[in-house]
Amino acid sequence: MAKQQLSTISIDYSWSFSDKTIKDTSYITHGYYTYPAKFIPQLAERLIKENSREGDVVIDPFMGSGTTVVEAIVNNRLGIGTDINEIANLLAKVKTTPIYYWDSEKEVQNTIYKITC
Ligand SMILES: C[S@@+](CC[C@H](N)C(=O)[O-])C[C@H]1O[C@@H](n2cnc3c(N)ncnc32)[C@H](O)[C@@H]1O
Repeated sequence: MAKQQLSTISIDYSWSFSDKTIKDTSYITHGYYTYPAKFIPQLAERLIKENSREGDVVIDPFMGSGTTVVEAIVNNRLGIGTDINEIANLLAKVKTTPIYYWDSEKEVQNTIYKITC
């Protein structure tokens, strides 16, 4: 597309997330790590909601720290991501793996015992 044609397209400011603060973009696990050129989670969320339905599979083959995968999961999609960078894979795994909650202090003690003894 020629530069002249591009200048005729109006800017859709609804895609600007410049009003978002670090607090706004750090919910759930999004704030765990910084990552180069990380998505604004609200951008990923909007794209997922506008282009898929609940239960669909959302794939990000360049997932970086996994922003898209996290948003896919919390929006009831199956999130799948890959990345050539092993550090990115580790960060995304940490951000997308649910933490198991123990029901009681006794269960915690039993588990610690099993691991250490
Ligand atoms: C801009 S970052 C993505 C950031 C991500 N959207 C986030 O929110 O964290 C682009 C990613 O593409 C990955 N990448 C580049 N070339 C790749 C390839 N050939 N296959 C898989 N991943 C690749 C890089 O390792 C990098 O993590």
